[in-house]
Amino acid sequence: MRICMIGTGYVGLVSGVCFSDLGNSVYCVDKDKDKIDFLNKGKVPIYEPGLDELIKKNFKQKRLFFTTDLKHAVQKSDIIFICVGTPTKKNSDSANLKYVFQVANELKKIIKKYKIIVTKSTVPVTTGDKIEKILIKLKRKKLVDIVSNPEFLREGEAIRDFVYPDRVVIGTNSKKANRILKNLYLPIIKKSSRYLQTSRRGAELIKYASNSFLATKISFINELANLCEKTNVDIKDISNGMGLDQRIGDRFLRAGPAYGGSCFPKDTRALIDTANKYKIDLSIVKSTVKSNNLRKIQLTKKIEKILDKKVKNKKITFLGVTFKPNTDDMREAASIPMIRYLNKKNCEIRYYDPSGEKKEFKPLKNVKYFKNIASACFKTDLIIIHTEWNEFKLLNFKKLVKRNNFIVYDLRNIYSPEKMRELKIKYFAIGR
Ligand SMILES: NC(=O)c1ccc[n+]([C@@H]2O[C@H](COP(=O)([O-])OP(=O)(O)OC[C@H]3O[C@@H](n4cnc5c(N)ncnc54)[C@H](O)[C@@H]3O)[C@@H](O)[C@H]2O)c1
Repeated sequence: MRICMIGTGYVGLVSGVCFSDLGNSVYCVDKDKDKIDFLNKGKVPIYEPGLDELIKKNFKQKRLFFTTDLKHAVQKSDIIFICVGTPTKKNSDSANLKYVFQVANELKKIIKKYKIIVTKSTVPVTTGDKIEKILIKLKRKKLVDIVSNPEFLREGEAIRDFVYPDRVVIGTNSKKANRILKNLYLPIIKKSSRYLQTSRRGAELIKYASNSFLATKISFINELANLCEKTNVDIKDISNGMGLDQRIGDRFLRAGPAYGGSCFPKDTRALIDTANKYKIDLSIVKSTVKSNNLRKIQLTKKIEKILDKKVKNKKITFLGVTFKPNTDDMREAASIPMIRYLNKKNCEIRYYDPSGEKKEFKPLKNVKYFKNIASACFKTDLIIIHTEWNEFKLLNFKKLVKRNNFIVYDLRNIYSPEKMRELKIKYFAIGR
């Protein structure tokens, strides 16, 4: 099949590349010319394991194209995926749909024969209806079907998630569009995944409901970790004990810092905002957002407590700053407010992240990026393990720090408190 992905960001690029790897011809379009030039030079703008190889392979096979020419890409394609960003609007909680509607307005001028327009971007319930209104003339002439197909991939595991999804959700009441899309996804759904056809509005809401539920699971276990710290219980026992119950499941049930990333924070806010418009009080999601905001403050205060409130001029090393491992995405990472706060308190912050230096910290005086773990930890006062990258899992802290009396604060519960005690390392973790 011939496919056009509009928006070559995380979702558009990964899904476009995976569709091309299944044998389809895929045009990845972006209005960002630098990004398209970069991709056409064989470079990859995001850090995602395995993506590099797949791009090279399919680009060489001439199944994968990168372009800024929307008209050409749309005319060449049967299925058009809208994959542009839907960030939070400034000074509001609602999703900013201006990029989505810009695309719909551009498509209105281009489409001359039947195309399926699929919204892969995460959009509030009824957005498909609004896109249909923009394209009403095309709809009346039966030149378009507008479908919702939310994407559930996780950064860092995006290729695996795309090829082996738990489910593929297609929101449409058009038999024709459903048949064509089922065919497109056939190689994926054959691998025992589930294909779920719903109403378009239903598909839009499934995405927000899923993300808000997962965010709630994280906040729930984070709050329980606070209780464990007071009652001398290990939160890992609670996570295991709960997770073994198949009705609950063990995923997204590990205590740590506040959740971050490009989806959970903005999608929880947007869902509350949508519900408010319909005068529905989503009190549980509201509590999750509140709890997560509080979490950032709680852990920063804990850092001050660990340092006996004498944080001024202390050397603090962050190992990992991204919101999760195997991605370079810094959107709403918990490390940002934590580092900004400590920086204001005149600490000397050093950080190392396998995905490289971060633009978010460049304007901050006394926040320095180090190219390796050893130089970031050398003679530091406090090591904070913020992100669970594999390379932080077997560290010899004494060898790295080369001084006594340093402290380790393990926000991911990677190390054993008993072993650290044996090694005489002052160690703090989450909920234990
Ligand atoms: N990042 C994830 O892990 C993830 C997972 C599932 C769903 N989503 C959803 O998918 C959508 C995209 O997210 P993302 O992280 O890929 O966003 P992104 O910001 O990484 O990429 C969006 C891209 O769209 C391009 N763009 C904007 N307007 C355009 C236009 N008119 N024409 C062509 N290109 C245009 C931008 O230049 C940018 O490259 C969002 O709604 C997000 O919530 C993201």
